[in-house]
Amino acid sequence: MSAGPAAGPLVSVRGVHRTYGTGAATVHALRDVSFDLTPGTMVALVGRSGSGKTTLLNVIGGLDRPDAGTVRVDGVEVTALDEDGLARLRRERVSYVFQTFGLIPVLSAAENVGAPLRLARMPAAERERRVGLLLELVGLAGHAEQRPGELSGGQQQRVAIARALAASPRLLIADEPTGQLDAETGLSVMALLRGVVESEGVTALVSTHDPTMIALADRVIRIRDGRLDGQEAP
Ligand SMILES: Nc1ncnc2c1ncn2[C@@H]1O[C@H](COP(=O)(O)OP(=O)(O)OP(=O)(O)O)[C@@H](O)[C@H]1O
Ligand SMILES: [Mg+2]
Repeated sequence: MSAGPAAGPLVSVRGVHRTYGTGAATVHALRDVSFDLTPGTMVALVGRSGSGKTTLLNVIGGLDRPDAGTVRVDGVEVTALDEDGLARLRRERVSYVFQTFGLIPVLSAAENVGAPLRLARMPAAERERRVGLLLELVGLAGHAEQRPGELSGGQQQRVAIARALAASPRLLIADEPTGQLDAETGLSVMALLRGVVESEGVTALVSTHDPTMIALADRVIRIRDGRLDGQEAP
């Protein structure tokens, strides 16, 4: 996998289709979706339940493959990668934050954040330093030794964000990261994401239903029945 050029869009989605099932049961989850994302921006992906948000995020992050169309992230054609290439993409360039946090229950907050760095074989001392910085960034410096079950939902999501940033990804994908949180906690998590877009220079693509969170984004992409709003049926 060769590194892409720094100029131009960080993400390019072109003519992406994704269908599930066959015959009368066919669901057109994505229909001819095309757009670019500018580096260093926070983009909200908005649409009703079932509109295709998760499908689109998974196709961009290489967790799912489209039936047609291409996705490029940071100069890499995601849609052309084999399994090894996809694994490397997720290790090096793209990271995920999920609605249900996805932390490892038996590991402490610090160990969860450090897991991707361990995978990348970062030496222990350097890893410890980076984990400390990340926990401080998300406001959890005093909670390093607590396990996920000993943290509040908002704190768990902060740990998940710190972990997602650990390997310095170019793109952070978050699928309804505040869906399990109360409004106030959700807003603080969204404000944290907003902050890390600035401080880490990462690009964030975040699906959400919440209008107050949408207001924090640089740009809003609306999806409806698998189609971007403003795009006509092919
Ligand atoms: N594995 C699957 N098999 C069949 N249909 C699927 C599958 N995954 C998603 N779909 C369908 O694709 C469409 C888009 O689903 P998707 O999960 O992307 O929506 P969403 O916008 O993320 O919804 P929500 O806001 O509820 O999370 C839906 O009609 C859904 O039923
Ligand atoms: Mg979804």
